[in-house]
Amino acid sequence: MSWSGNDGAGAVATASGAEGVTAGPVGNPRGETRTTGAALTINRPKPEFPEPAPLDDHGPARVVALCNQKGGVGKTTTTINLGAALAEFGRRVLLVDFDPQGALSVGLGRLDPRELDLTVYNLLMQRDVTVEEVLLKTNVDGLDLIPSNIDLSAAEVQLVGEVAREQMLARALAPVMDDYDVVLIDCQPSLGLLTVNALTAAHGVIVPLECEFFALRGVALLMDTIQKVQERLNDRLVIDGFLGTMYDPRTLHAREVLSTIVDGFGDKVYSTVINRTIRFPDASVAGEPITRFDSSSAGANAYRELAKEVLARWPLNGHGG
Ligand SMILES: Nc1ncnc2c1ncn2[C@@H]1O[C@H](COP(=O)(O)OP(=O)(O)OP(=O)(O)O)[C@@H](O)[C@H]1O
Ligand SMILES: [Mg+2]
Repeated sequence: MSWSGNDGAGAVATASGAEGVTAGPVGNPRGETRTTGAALTINRPKPEFPEPAPLDDHGPARVVALCNQKGGVGKTTTTINLGAALAEFGRRVLLVDFDPQGALSVGLGRLDPRELDLTVYNLLMQRDVTVEEVLLKTNVDGLDLIPSNIDLSAAEVQLVGEVAREQMLARALAPVMDDYDVVLIDCQPSLGLLTVNALTAAHGVIVPLECEFFALRGVALLMDTIQKVQERLNDRLVIDGFLGTMYDPRTLHAREVLSTIVDGFGDKVYSTVINRTIRFPDASVAGEPITRFDSSSAGANAYRELAKEVLARWPLNGHGG
């Protein structure tokens, strides 16, 4: 495979091996950065992904968890902007804020998630609350949100006493699976019971990795968790891909980190890489996806490219799993 930074100026790597990584042992998971000359090829063109064909009908959804227990790697930013880009391509998209910090809800304009009457917490814990009651429209056509706030932090403890505690989110989402083409779940930075619920509800996992020191630190533990969920709770679960984020094509260090990621995960690394730009924090402050906030920016186009790549890689063009 090959990849490049989304401005076309980034490093480009070629990888072999690690074919079909799902959740098995991974290469170099300790977060060491090193240059492997054989794996690094500069300025190979990024593959062209086809313009996604419009859909005649919608659903059932493919559910994807955005997961990495390392904080601040771009899970929420990717959930918002990949979701918005998929919606631009005519997909019906549901975003699930599954982090008590509520950053996804804030990033989509819910400035004070504490004021929300119903959140994903009520959906999980109260049997009489339906998913339709909790759903919110966003100001992007085709993009809906199940919001979250700090209430969700209590769920981790309260769920422990529930029957089928790992399946609570999957059960809660089941009634709307036919209404959407894609459900993206923004996980919190932990591997606790909430994240296990997200993995149990999912068909696929996208792992954002910041192209910085220690990008791979802790990834072996994440792989281990995914493998356990696969074996015990959800045998359809696969790793859809690893996404390099906050990439700075000007630094050798970032190129080396990306090279290390490709060494570890081969074709599972998306050829689209998200560059570091201040426009992402700016868009979050504005409460909008970058595809609306600065529609023609490189960041917006990078997430459109990612949406195309994600759809091209999914079985059934995103339907079902
Ligand atoms: N490509 C990027 N360039 C610059 N800043 C970015 C980029 N992607 C994300 N950020 C910023 O980095 C910070 C962390 O990103 P984000 O919230 O998406 O990470 P996260 O993995 O969801 O974090 P957490 O683990 O705390 O939930 C945010 O301030 C966000 O605006
Ligand atoms: Mg987040």
